[in-house]
Amino acid sequence: MGTNLSNSGSKTQLLNATADNINLAIEALKSGDVIGFPTETVYGLAGNALNDEAIAKIFLYKSRPSFDPLIVHVAETLQSCTALAEAEIIDLRTMTHDQISTCDQLIQIFWPGPLTLIFPKHERVSELVTSSLPTVALRAPAHLVAQKLLRQSGLPLAAPSANQFGRISPTKSQHVIEELGAQLKFCLEGGECQIGVESTIASVNFRGEVSVLRPGGLSLEILEKHLGKLFQGLHTELGLPSVAAKSPVAPGLLESHYAPRKLMLRIQTDWNETELKNLYRSLPKNLSQVTKVSILSSFPLPFETQHIIRNTFTQAEFFSLTAEGNDSLTAARNLFAQLRTLDQSDSELIVCELPKSQKDLWPAIRDRLTRASKKYWTP
Ligand code: TXA
Ligand code: MG
Repeated sequence: MGTNLSNSGSKTQLLNATADNINLAIEALKSGDVIGFPTETVYGLAGNALNDEAIAKIFLYKSRPSFDPLIVHVAETLQSCTALAEAEIIDLRTMTHDQISTCDQLIQIFWPGPLTLIFPKHERVSELVTSSLPTVALRAPAHLVAQKLLRQSGLPLAAPSANQFGRISPTKSQHVIEELGAQLKFCLEGGECQIGVESTIASVNFRGEVSVLRPGGLSLEILEKHLGKLFQGLHTELGLPSVAAKSPVAPGLLESHYAPRKLMLRIQTDWNETELKNLYRSLPKNLSQVTKVSILSSFPLPFETQHIIRNTFTQAEFFSLTAEGNDSLTAARNLFAQLRTLDQSDSELIVCELPKSQKDLWPAIRDRLTRASKKYWTP
């Protein structure tokens, strides 16, 4: 049936996505259990979005604060606002014609795929899922295993990334077991996630204008290519119901997130010596004799830069998200696995740079690295 992994007291069964095992996963979901499953962005921790008991388990297993709402995953067959309303997942009554028409356009172009859209929720969707917001975040994932699970179960599946709250997101099934192995019964195997960063979250206002709330696996240029210029205004101008308007932009966009357990600092400049020395001086006392440091750059650093860094961190080891000439897609795919490896290595500190490019998936990578790191160490 699957492999029972014995590491670190794990009880999780890693199930190959055979027809029998998909059925087993569906039975578990129907009985209010939660499971790990692959999507093209990151692995998710899924539960029936209509079942409060299942949703409570998701928050409990992840130690996620209840004010941080979940994304609901739907089958790719629900390809319009009307279909989502007929499935009793969204409520069309408060949506304008322009809003519906832009949402339909986005759904048709980008679903299934790494785009999450915000809608007025149907009353049937658990308030626990939406943290009492009147809106629900929806996406149809493209991964075939996720699609089979959604189509065959007929359930909308609430699923955050399958990691402990605030920690590095999982892009391989092994990561799910490292994060949640003590709690989870099943995780469906789906190989390495092809995108590697979470979906782009967008919201459409009453005038049909689109704002991005979280950069992610769908780049801004591709969105703009289809829509023209994106709307830059605040969430309060979106014409969303007042409760949503008063809450922070995407409530889950907390400053510290996606973070390793060991200290990770970021450099603002191109590895300028003065900033490196300042950063070194800011280190906590127990790291003031720090020797082993992992340096994480977007591309391999030139020898001269490595030399400058070694003037401060004598035993620096160098890692890059991608090789020279590789693109941001490769960097995004490697990002979380790379952070996990550095977290588990014997270095005492990670220092990273933030990519500056506004193209492709670099803004999403920059966002994740910013939230995973601190500017200076502060107690
Ligand atoms: O790619 C993804 O989006 C992955 C996979 C598993 O689908 N999921 C994911 O979920 O990243 P999570 O829980 O790690 O992030 C969900 C984000 C949070 O920042 C949350 O605040 C935001 O979605 N969100 C959920 N419902 C919302 C709503 N009604 N309005 C605004 N933001 C919302
Ligand atoms: Mg997450």
